[in-house]
Amino acid sequence: MKIGVAGAGAMGTGIAQVAAMAGHTVVIYDPYETSLGRSKGILDGDFAKLVSKGKLDEAKGKSVRNAISHTSNLDGLKGCGMVIEAAVEMMEVKKKLFADLESVVDEDCILATNTSSLPVIAIAAACKHRSRVIGIHFFNPAAIMPLVEIIPAFTTEESVYQNSRALIDSWGKVTVKAKDTPGFIVNRIARPYYGEAIKIYEEGIASFADIDQAMRSIGGFRMGPFELMDMIGNDINFSVTETVWRQMFYDPRYRPSITQQRLSEAGLYGKKSGRGYYDYSVSAVKPEPTADDRKLHYIFNRILCMLINEAVDALYLGIASRDDIETAMTKGVNYPKGLLRWCDELGAANVLDTINRMHADYLDDRYRPSLLLKKSAAEHSRFF
Ligand SMILES: NC(=O)c1ccc[n+]([C@@H]2O[C@H](COP(=O)([O-])OP(=O)(O)OC[C@H]3O[C@@H](n4cnc5c(N)ncnc54)[C@H](O)[C@@H]3O)[C@@H](O)[C@H]2O)c1
Repeated sequence: MKIGVAGAGAMGTGIAQVAAMAGHTVVIYDPYETSLGRSKGILDGDFAKLVSKGKLDEAKGKSVRNAISHTSNLDGLKGCGMVIEAAVEMMEVKKKLFADLESVVDEDCILATNTSSLPVIAIAAACKHRSRVIGIHFFNPAAIMPLVEIIPAFTTEESVYQNSRALIDSWGKVTVKAKDTPGFIVNRIARPYYGEAIKIYEEGIASFADIDQAMRSIGGFRMGPFELMDMIGNDINFSVTETVWRQMFYDPRYRPSITQQRLSEAGLYGKKSGRGYYDYSVSAVKPEPTADDRKLHYIFNRILCMLINEAVDALYLGIASRDDIETAMTKGVNYPKGLLRWCDELGAANVLDTINRMHADYLDDRYRPSLLLKKSAAEHSRFF
């Protein structure tokens, strides 16, 4: 099957590589020649690396690379069985692109969007045949990250969902099904990892280094929240937070922070700009954590309980199944353990107690326990 990718940026290029490695002929469309040129260069480099590392033999490397072509002409996507859109994150651009795509592809071509934060159904609304539109959300870098969220919209036909999931599974990815709601699974449930960490810092309880240390040393997370935000980019992380919050009708649980907004406004994006929460210049010395054990446990417990509450609430609201929630957080953001299992280990009553105490202290709906967490605590039930 011929696969189309619309948008030759970081994600489109990575997705094309995954599809070609799985044996497809791939056409990447982008209206901008500079984007196409960059994408070609990245693919040449990536395939050369795969060959030099012995992951592909030379002939295979050449044939897979040659299976990917680039075009600035939308007609190049004619005959595709699926087109995955990975253009800039702007609703108007995506809507126009989907409407234009429909005039080029066959009626049975699946049209997928890789959007991180826009409603799939709103993009589908631009199409005559909405039932063929679905969300297929890869993680960055697409060639390496195993997780893909499959997001059927309210209008997506069941067979389109089934065929899409089976296809992406066949590419060796781990798929999960998510409801078409803000942030889908990962970008919704992970919000407190950043938000609660910043709040702890803003309250003067601990430094970035202390909070990072708590999550790494006690929780076993690979990166602390501030290290991770600096890696993702404070501009991108802030924008995802703000979008999720706005789309949740300003639910205080997802409220962004002034601290991160200021960093983003100042261009202190993190690693890519040389400075974020930490300084990445050559001469910089990384600050050492100074918090004692008691404080580290307080920080870890507060952030973890907020994450668990989010995961439990996502289950309660049917955003995804129990198993898909666990898979999404361990494969999409490398959490050391699924949050629902973690809830079982701590005991729902203890998690609820932490959230209730914060609610009493702050009188803020941000610390609002999920109904399912309350129920689990009352019934002493477990998720597994
Ligand atoms: N970067 C991430 O971490 C990440 C992760 C998952 C999903 N996404 C989503 O993937 C999409 C692309 O993100 P990215 O990081 O690759 O962005 P990017 O800026 O690297 O690439 C965007 C590309 O879109 C192209 N483009 C602009 N207008 C277009 C049009 N009308 N038709 C086709 N292409 C057009 C640009 O030339 C550019 O090549 C976005 O929807 C984003 O939300 C990004």
